[in-house]
Amino acid sequence: MRLRNLLLAWLLVPTLVLWGLGFAVGYERSLQQAHEAYDRTLLGSALVIGAGIASAEDGEVVLELPHAALEMLRTDAQDRIFYRVADARDGATITGYEDLPPPAAPPQAGEPVFYDAEYKGQAVRVVALAHVLPTSSSPRRLLVQVAETLDARRRLTRRIVADSSLVQLLLILTAAGLIALGVQRGLAPLARLREDIRQRAANDLEPIATAQVPAEVRPLIDAINTHTGRQRELSQAQVRFVANASHQLKTPLTVLRAQIGHALMQTSLPAMRSVVEELDASTDATGRLVEQLLSLARSEPGRALVAESLDLSELARSVSFGLLAEAGAKGVDLGLAADEAVPVHGERLLLREMVLNLVHNAVVYSPPGGVVTVHVLRRGSGGRACLEVIDNGPGIAPEQRARAFERFYRLPSSNTKGSGLGLAIVREICARHGIEIALGDGEPNASGGHGLRVTLLWSTPYTGPEAGGSTA
Ligand SMILES: Nc1ncnc2c1ncn2[C@@H]1O[C@H](COP(=O)(O)OP(=O)(O)OP(=O)(O)O)[C@@H](O)[C@H]1O
Ligand SMILES: [Mg+2]
Repeated sequence: MRLRNLLLAWLLVPTLVLWGLGFAVGYERSLQQAHEAYDRTLLGSALVIGAGIASAEDGEVVLELPHAALEMLRTDAQDRIFYRVADARDGATITGYEDLPPPAAPPQAGEPVFYDAEYKGQAVRVVALAHVLPTSSSPRRLLVQVAETLDARRRLTRRIVADSSLVQLLLILTAAGLIALGVQRGLAPLARLREDIRQRAANDLEPIATAQVPAEVRPLIDAINTHTGRQRELSQAQVRFVANASHQLKTPLTVLRAQIGHALMQTSLPAMRSVVEELDASTDATGRLVEQLLSLARSEPGRALVAESLDLSELARSVSFGLLAEAGAKGVDLGLAADEAVPVHGERLLLREMVLNLVHNAVVYSPPGGVVTVHVLRRGSGGRACLEVIDNGPGIAPEQRARAFERFYRLPSSNTKGSGLGLAIVREICARHGIEIALGDGEPNASGGHGLRVTLLWSTPYTGPEAGGSTA
């Protein structure tokens, strides 16, 4: 529902109902007021009639009131007026309309009684008052009644009610109009905003300006801006990644092409064989580069984690097992210290990739005869999961350690083939799982220095369903 219609409905429905109620109540109140005003005139008429009553010589009561005078008493040209003078004791009519309905209780002297009645098929307002006529013998108590039809009173009431209702209705309609106008003006910046956004280029992820926007809508725009901010980072990361990847893939492809050309130029089979062997090694290296690029893409933020509970010791064991042959071929002693189950929560594939990269580095960069240990333990009072890969190879100098995490960065001393992506992948995966990573000194090496120690520390103690133990 449109905001304007909603506001109008909330304003108009209750106020129109109240207006209708006010109309009904107002009519009653105004009729009361009309009665109060006209009753005085009616009482005046009764007093005039009382004053016109006289006692004749023979004790008869006579009313000396010319018809014209009575006509004058009428409050309104349309109204009809009836009167009656009766004996207060027996109620016998002395003069006037005999069947004029008497009051429910006889009035006391000086206290006129007003009441509504029906006479000759019409509603009438009647005043009854007690009148004492002094006669020669004893004073005579009389009842004087004057009745009047209600035309004038009703017309006055209708006019009052119609006037005030009209004013109220105009007020309500004006308020509704102002609200509609206010809403339209208030929402105008949103319409402009809509146009701005509609005309934006698809790749324009700049934040939306909130200066002109109503305060109520600002949190929404802020939330959208936060969201597009994340999108912007994501798309920038993707652009960077694609640029890096295509740049990094160009070199090995050029090498491969050159090697193929070189192989084709060989005339003797043994010579060609040795070039093809080189070609084989280059293809392996290129394959690893592609794999590393893909796992970097997998570990980048933007894709939701498919997390599950798993045993870190089990993971370390399976990764180490997979690298045993490579380590053995190099004469590197790869050992595992993971006796108890250490449950963690995360995406199995990514965590595996992370551990694999670290152990692979330790094996690859250790010289023959080196010792590599993969250690899984719980650390601290909270029992935070911890994995360490320790070697006694050349290590990384403290001042180089920060750079080692950069994409495509390789230490100048590294002589083996590598793409420089392993530690960057590890860092991304750690960030996504809330794992702290630190590089430190490993075991002492033959040249008097230290190997490398990579420590991974999970941020919180594990609280998942398998907390406390699983397969060891
Ligand atoms: N255990 C280690 N001992 C000594 N140097 C290391 C060790 N691990 C990494 N490095 C150094 O850090 C650099 C970055 O390592 P990283 O794993 O990111 O890339 P890479 O091993 O060169 O390539 P990739 O792993 O992508 O094939 C390496 O080139 C190496 O010089
Ligand atoms: Mg590596």
